[in-house]
Amino acid sequence: MANQDDQFKKVISHAKEYGYVFQSSEIYDGLSAVYDYAQNGAELKKNIRDYWWKAMVQMHDNIVGIDTAIFMHPTTWKASGHVDAFSDPLIDNKDSKKRYRADVLVEDYCLKIEAKIEKEVKKAEKRFGDSFNKAEFIATNPRVLGYQEKIDTILSRLGKSLEAEDLADVKALIEELEIACPLSGSRNWTDVKQFNLMFGTKLGASAETAMDLYLRPETAQGIFVNFLNVQKTGRMKIPFGIAQTGKAFRNEIVARQFIFRMREFEQMEMQFFIKPGTQKKWFEHWKETRMKWHLSLGMGEDNYRFHDHEKLAHYADAATDIEFKFPFGFKELEGIHSRTDFDLKAHEEHSGKKLQYFDHEENKSYTPYVLETSIGLDRMFLAVFSNALMEEELENNTTRTVLKLPAVLAPVKAAVFPLVKKDGLPEVAKEIIEDLKWDFNVFYDEKDAVGKRYRRQDANGTPFCITVDHQTLEDKTVTIRHRDTMEQSRVAISELKDIIKKEVDVKEWLMKM
Ligand code: GAP
Repeated sequence: MANQDDQFKKVISHAKEYGYVFQSSEIYDGLSAVYDYAQNGAELKKNIRDYWWKAMVQMHDNIVGIDTAIFMHPTTWKASGHVDAFSDPLIDNKDSKKRYRADVLVEDYCLKIEAKIEKEVKKAEKRFGDSFNKAEFIATNPRVLGYQEKIDTILSRLGKSLEAEDLADVKALIEELEIACPLSGSRNWTDVKQFNLMFGTKLGASAETAMDLYLRPETAQGIFVNFLNVQKTGRMKIPFGIAQTGKAFRNEIVARQFIFRMREFEQMEMQFFIKPGTQKKWFEHWKETRMKWHLSLGMGEDNYRFHDHEKLAHYADAATDIEFKFPFGFKELEGIHSRTDFDLKAHEEHSGKKLQYFDHEENKSYTPYVLETSIGLDRMFLAVFSNALMEEELENNTTRTVLKLPAVLAPVKAAVFPLVKKDGLPEVAKEIIEDLKWDFNVFYDEKDAVGKRYRRQDANGTPFCITVDHQTLEDKTVTIRHRDTMEQSRVAISELKDIIKKEVDVKEWLMKM
């Protein structure tokens, strides 16, 4: 655990030092669980959003993208169930006066057991060396099986109690597991209570006539209320999807873990409208498709797993999370939900407008079912960033900090350096920049020794460094250095564009899906 904490602290400080993420309003001591994306962070975030949009919208003939408003008519949230059912179970520690999410306290307890499993695996790995079979060990080792059974029993009970709204049992579970407040160390807990997560605001000039509004807690409802508009104007035939990316807001009580859980965050969601009765097939389809998208980025198959929900949201008949191994353990990165016809039916009822689809093949109207994929852009950012940050031991007994971002997502694709600040080398380097910047985000640097400049770009995640030297003046060649291998080669300036494109082109990456 200490190691995980250290690694996570490094991630947070690196994100600040290299211009990726700043705390919001830092000069006023910040605002809890609200963050700003800095010059490199904004580029990385945009590249992740584009990578999602291209795979989801541009590459699917039957999926279109929209961009709906954050403010929606307040009845939307009554219909969607968020007014009545969008809440977290909270518990207060009477000694520290600190408030916690009861389910997170239990999940954190389970994470500690999971850490024990990992410890056993690491020990065995050392003992057995090359002959070690991890899968077999996990499936047969009695101690590991015991730990896993304990986790499963706890989570299953938690799921059932939450499902049945049995908050007294959630408290009983916390007491039985002897979970203590991390701050005060005491087990002096209040009862568990539900707390609505939506932010309220007002629309209108005077207090008497102002209308109560909510900041949207998910982007999905903007898609549901526009379902028929898009279907008709786009002449869409079922099955078809509507996608969008945008801000969502939740008054999270357990606001920690950096950009993992924020009060203002961005979602990338897609609602896929299907014929009732086909939801199982499409659930499997989107599980597979979304996992392939993740794996296309090459961040390691072992870092992902599915986690089926025990407790289903008020709208779902099946749900799974794609979990990622963050520095603090496996946690939800994306949700895939079979939402039935809950939302469209509810909007029909509350608006009095028909939201049905006429199926020409079947010659009848029906309310479509919906399969949803929903990923947090900020969480994806954290997954990509934390997975990329590493310290590498080099042959000369030094270490380097390197941010091995997937090249397709890296904010800056290439840095161009003149070896020295004279003899016409800066001019040639700037000419190269002027040419490359039409195609890629590139960066010019002439300060410090070249070795130092390499290190800076390694830590920044830049896949290529290009150095202009005296030989360049004679034969129009430069040195190109690869971030991950640190290999250098001499290439013609005219080849640079193709070399970079091959490594950073979205098509090359998405073709791996
Ligand atoms: N429309 C369905 C929906 O909103 P969700 O599981 O509540 O489902 C989907 O959220 C995704 O949004 C999550 O998997 C997560 O990546 C992201 N997300 C949710 N709450 C978040 C928060 N407070 N901060 C950052 N990301 C969040």
